[in-house]
Amino acid sequence: MMNSSTTFQNDLLRRLVKVFYKGSLQFSLQPKEVEFLTWEQQQKFLDATVNSERVKKYPVNSDFARLFFKKLLIYLEPRQEVHDDIYCYLCSLMEKDRENESFYYRHYVIGEDLKNVIIIKETKNMVVNGTTGMKTWEAALMLADWVLSNEALFRNKKILELGSGVGFTGITIAKHCKINSILLTDCHEDVLNAICDNIAFNFPQNSLTEGSMKKEFTDGNKVLGVMMLDWDNVQNLSNDLLPDVIIGSDIIYDPSILKPLCNVIKIFTSRNKSIEIYVANIIRNEDTYKQFLRTLDVFELDHEEISHTKNASVEWDVNIHKYTIIRIKDKQ
Ligand SMILES: C[S@@+](CC[C@H](N)C(=O)[O-])C[C@H]1O[C@@H](n2cnc3c(N)ncnc32)[C@H](O)[C@@H]1O
Repeated sequence: MMNSSTTFQNDLLRRLVKVFYKGSLQFSLQPKEVEFLTWEQQQKFLDATVNSERVKKYPVNSDFARLFFKKLLIYLEPRQEVHDDIYCYLCSLMEKDRENESFYYRHYVIGEDLKNVIIIKETKNMVVNGTTGMKTWEAALMLADWVLSNEALFRNKKILELGSGVGFTGITIAKHCKINSILLTDCHEDVLNAICDNIAFNFPQNSLTEGSMKKEFTDGNKVLGVMMLDWDNVQNLSNDLLPDVIIGSDIIYDPSILKPLCNVIKIFTSRNKSIEIYVANIIRNEDTYKQFLRTLDVFELDHEEISHTKNASVEWDVNIHKYTIIRIKDKQ
């Protein structure tokens, strides 16, 4: 039986580790909590984060890590003997070449088990080489969280993701849901390469088959595909592409792509009347979003809002000013 102080220590460590992997500096420690962060507990924290084989292989953003440990030191230094490895780690960060800083690895903890981590190589820059797809956006976290909370809707289904970006949502679904297959698509070569790298990090055992149109990673059971699908260029969209479900996150932001996007959706609803389509959005510009809803109407597509107001398995910011998940279907 664990006594209450061990439980307190474990909860505190878990909370700190989760905050670290979330990439957040929003934490504070009460004097009683600092008291528990002895050398031994600091060792456990380091082992679960920067000393772990996973983080050594896939390093987190060093700007963030530097700020995180500096903040931790503000709490620790007056009250605790600080673990040497914290200082060593900070020194190693200072030596790092800043050139390598634009890409780093995010470690997204799924659920409560700190071993359930999705590793995504990404940047914090909003636009890289003309694409917004090289970082994981908040809507991707929200959509993955909603899908994991509604796993039954996706069971044994063939899923297609539009505008996947670096692939967090698709990879998380592939890892945690009993789906048949998922095809991650995007229009940018760099993004497609990043998706392939990220699949390889998270499914190192899967074998890769390269076809002329798509790459497929499989464990012999589930298939993860990666394919170029540019909404502006759908003349050659294969007729064999018949997903049961389409998903997308943060793909409604540019007025110029609303029509091509609705056109792609219409192509799929025409091929399969019972297709399910879910799109997660952060509404930055009310006019663009309203224009999207009007464009859906022009394409004879209906939509309904789905409520998702909590963090279940994937942490996302529920306090975002305006967000929504919509389900789209054909009017006929
Ligand atoms: C804001 S990012 C969202 C990425 C990811 N879904 C997420 O939420 O993290 C928008 C994505 O849509 C893709 N995109 C933009 N225009 C596109 C088009 N015409 N065809 C296909 N994908 C497009 C971009 O390359 C980018 O990956």
